[in-house]
Amino acid sequence: MLRVLVMVSGGGTNLQAIIDAVKSGEVTNTELVGVISNNYGVKSLDRAALAGIPAEVCSAKDFASRDEFNDRLLERVDSYKPDLIVLAGFLVVIPEKMIDKYENKIINIHPSLIPSFCGTGYYGLKVHEAALARGVKVSGATVHFVDKGTDTGPIILQKAVEVKKGDTPEVLQRRIMEEAEWKLLPQAIDMIANGKL
Ligand code: GRF
Repeated sequence: MLRVLVMVSGGGTNLQAIIDAVKSGEVTNTELVGVISNNYGVKSLDRAALAGIPAEVCSAKDFASRDEFNDRLLERVDSYKPDLIVLAGFLVVIPEKMIDKYENKIINIHPSLIPSFCGTGYYGLKVHEAALARGVKVSGATVHFVDKGTDTGPIILQKAVEVKKGDTPEVLQRRIMEEAEWKLLPQAIDMIANGKL
């Protein structure tokens, strides 16, 4: 069984997609061993509790320095003994030490077709605002391994999603989640859990 730790910052719809896919058997050989959120009071924590997955908050606001936070974060991550770490809307820069320790064991979902609309500053609605401003006709989502750059690691899966006339950033964000993100992330985990990568 692949021990999977999911890291989140907010609503956790991607976390929910993973939970549902493990429950339905769409994702096999996988145990969700924990959820770490960097924010308090987010819906992700309720989703984890409902699914019976141990969850906790590790927030930079509770530490005097970034180094202290990074050390604590790595200590908490290690405590779950994960085989795979899934960043599902985790809006914190991963400490270099953690990337070294978990090389090729951290994956991220990004809501565009990398290399478009990615890198520093492209997160949340900003990604979709930029895609609409450029007038692209397709966007989508990408699951990739995490390396020391921002959205630069090897690509695992991508799925294109149509941009429609009159789309707002919110509408496009939702369509990309429904048609791409919620499918790709469970699929990538299943591939890794079953040695298909
Ligand atoms: C998703 O759009 C994901 O691609 C991005 O952050 C968002 C998280 O949404 N990295 P949720 O918390 O899974 O609902």
